[in-house]
Amino acid sequence: MATSNDLIRIEQALHRGSADQYLDFQAHQDIIQRILQLRDQKSVLILGHNYMAPLVYHLSGEGERGDSLQLAQYAAKSTKPIILFDGVRFMAETAKILNPEKKVLIADMKAGCSLADPFRGEDVRKYKEKYPGLPVVLYINSYADAKAEADYCCTSSNGLKVVEHAAKEFGTKQVVFLPDSLMGANLQEELKQQGSDIDLIYPGKYDAKHGACEVHAQITAEMIRNIRHDFSLSPEDKSTAVLVHWECHPDVLKEADFHGSTSAMIKYLYSHPELKRVYLGTECEMTANMQNEFPQIEFVRTCAIACQHMGKITLHKILKALETEQPEVTVPEEIRVRALGSIKRMLAINT
Ligand code: 13P
Ligand code: SF4
Repeated sequence: MATSNDLIRIEQALHRGSADQYLDFQAHQDIIQRILQLRDQKSVLILGHNYMAPLVYHLSGEGERGDSLQLAQYAAKSTKPIILFDGVRFMAETAKILNPEKKVLIADMKAGCSLADPFRGEDVRKYKEKYPGLPVVLYINSYADAKAEADYCCTSSNGLKVVEHAAKEFGTKQVVFLPDSLMGANLQEELKQQGSDIDLIYPGKYDAKHGACEVHAQITAEMIRNIRHDFSLSPEDKSTAVLVHWECHPDVLKEADFHGSTSAMIKYLYSHPELKRVYLGTECEMTANMQNEFPQIEFVRTCAIACQHMGKITLHKILKALETEQPEVTVPEEIRVRALGSIKRMLAINT
């Protein structure tokens, strides 16, 4: 019964979007049905990030899809014996850290991240040696060995709150933020604007090493100005808006009407019913998903801005993962326990 209800839910959602999405649904109906059957037979929680392609995104229902923070929260509360994570590997690993007794599956182990892949535990240790005694806040886009060395995790939804909390707890005005240099610069600017005197130490501020999201780093201020011009998205016109992600360049944020996490952007759309035309400066599939959710809005879509890692999660790989219960995400227990500390300290701040 749950399977057929969900099939109807997915069909209706994709019908609201573009004609090609609905055709895509019809062409893949059988495989979607098989995935949902296996989900119910094996009692699997399917979590999906906002950047999943529409057919994958809708495998997850309300309360099962969202941004990095929401997905970590859903994983923490799960009672199902298996979690299938439709997102990138660091996200599935976070779910495993929170659920050691459960089986955590991901459709493709090679779904990496340009922030997480090059920045490991030894890199966090180097910053700790350079700045002894200062709290280290680590972006959730990182692997367990790096999380194990950090004091706090944070996501793009709670970065400011976590940094402020860390400064207060440690009784300091300096906080180390790793590894995203662009988000670090953006958080520092926001703190300044809010009148905070916290000095955020992030890669690239006092040293040469930079870390960035390879997707959001492609968006330039000039591109935003051109999109505004070409699609009549004037800042004065309240029926239009440009929303961008925290991981973009600081000068991109200055050109936008709003910046935030993926879920903050969705909240913005819900709280502005007057919107008629919007550009989302973030991963392209999120725009496709929002087109289904907000059919009254015309979205400007830049499909060159796509995450190759998120794109590795496909329906066929998902079906295989459910059939074989492989590949399974594992984390060595000694690392998991220490990484759990930084995630739990973050979740405690938010609840
Ligand atoms: P959020 O969904 O937490 O905003 O993160 C975006 C992202 O790039 C995840 O990889
Ligand atoms: Fe990593 Fe950027 Fe892809 Fe998110 S969008 S997974 S930050 S590379």
